[in-house]
Amino acid sequence: MKSSLINNVLDADLPSIDRAEGVWLYDTAGRKYIDGCSGAVVATIGHAHPHVLEAMGRQAAKVTFTHRGAFTSADADDLANRLCAFTGYQGAWFVNSGSEAVEAAMQFALQFFRETGQPDRDWFLSMTRSYHGNTLGGLSLSGHARRVVAGALAHQFPALPTAYSYREKGDRSESDYAADLLRGAREQFEEHGSRLAGIVVEPVGGATLGATVPPAGYLEGLRALCDEFGVLMIADEVMTGLGRTGKPLALQHWGVKADLVAIGKGLGAGYTPIAATLVDGGIIAAIESGSGRVLGGHTYAGNPLSIATASAVFDVLTADDFIMKGDEKATYLRSKLVSLQDEHELIGDVRGVGMQIALEFVQDREAKSTNLETGALARSIARAAMDHGAVIYVCTGGFNDAVQISPPLNITREELDILVDCIDRALADVAADLAMVGVPA
Ligand SMILES: Cc1ncc(COP(=O)(O)O)c(C=O)c1O
Repeated sequence: MKSSLINNVLDADLPSIDRAEGVWLYDTAGRKYIDGCSGAVVATIGHAHPHVLEAMGRQAAKVTFTHRGAFTSADADDLANRLCAFTGYQGAWFVNSGSEAVEAAMQFALQFFRETGQPDRDWFLSMTRSYHGNTLGGLSLSGHARRVVAGALAHQFPALPTAYSYREKGDRSESDYAADLLRGAREQFEEHGSRLAGIVVEPVGGATLGATVPPAGYLEGLRALCDEFGVLMIADEVMTGLGRTGKPLALQHWGVKADLVAIGKGLGAGYTPIAATLVDGGIIAAIESGSGRVLGGHTYAGNPLSIATASAVFDVLTADDFIMKGDEKATYLRSKLVSLQDEHELIGDVRGVGMQIALEFVQDREAKSTNLETGALARSIARAAMDHGAVIYVCTGGFNDAVQISPPLNITREELDILVDCIDRALADVAADLAMVGVPA
């Protein structure tokens, strides 16, 4: 019988999941796959972690839902306090998804300027090739391929080019590249500064281009422009936050602090839908001395079951040098992928920070090009990897052929060897297929 389930690709023939444990996923046909991308860069601590399962069971037996308008809980206070101490913020506003966390950050920025007598500041700058979620605010912030679904409902804010060293730095030094990007940014700030509430930035690229790393000085320069023009800096760390890049927040690699931060994926780590907006003290103070209330919220936000689950995830993340050990394994993975590049012409670039790593594929390394429709090469390599038992994440921006390799941080070295072996074999298969149809690999 035809299923009534609507998939992204309507006639997709996907394996049916049965169970998962650690970095392994098992389908109902008896096949097992290594989770080379933590789902969608979500499962930072792996699947079926006993500490989290135990906390979920205990909480489910107590209370799963109360509305935040009626009750708070010591657990919710505790998680907010721990998150803020870990990241250096003063307030945490819980929501259910990364998109909502970005929307909430935008709304906090708008509220800050309303409360402080600058209501005309209601525009947001962002990068042309970023991803900030599937809601109208998020889609208004980027030129991601999905923007088309919102059509004219997405706002036409001005945008800055995304730093993309592999394709766009050319012969310039990093600092010259950063200086050129900042010159363009300054022009936008000078033209629109009085209308701008915020600039929304993914510190390290994610779903759109795949783990792009900005040149040194760029994020620091954007922070300085924000300060000069009175614009709030909003870091979208939905993918990069909470240890994925080896630090609590990725912006810390550049010593930059944003005014608002959206976190998501790693907060629930695949155990529950939860995300949060982290808010700087100055914004909270403005609300306190103004209206004293936040107009917003979602029914399930901060529900007791999600809070208990995220608290248990946070315990794991912050114990036993979990993030540091993950970072060491990321260095190992990175070196293995760089070696793989020597064997496979199809790998044009290996890049990333911590365990947020991407491979960008090309057929002609010199021209950095493919003969196929954009994305087709990455999709066929990911399909081949799946045939060999590894799941990797195809970037969805519609701009390139990149995949993210971002396994759980507690993957072992032996499991990393298996993952790289699957990718190696997938690349060999696709290169052979391309050679067979006469397309140079
Ligand atoms: C940087 C970034 N922001 C926002 C989102 C949206 O998060 P969600 O899919 O949980 O709504 C994503 C999801 O991929 C993301 O990578």
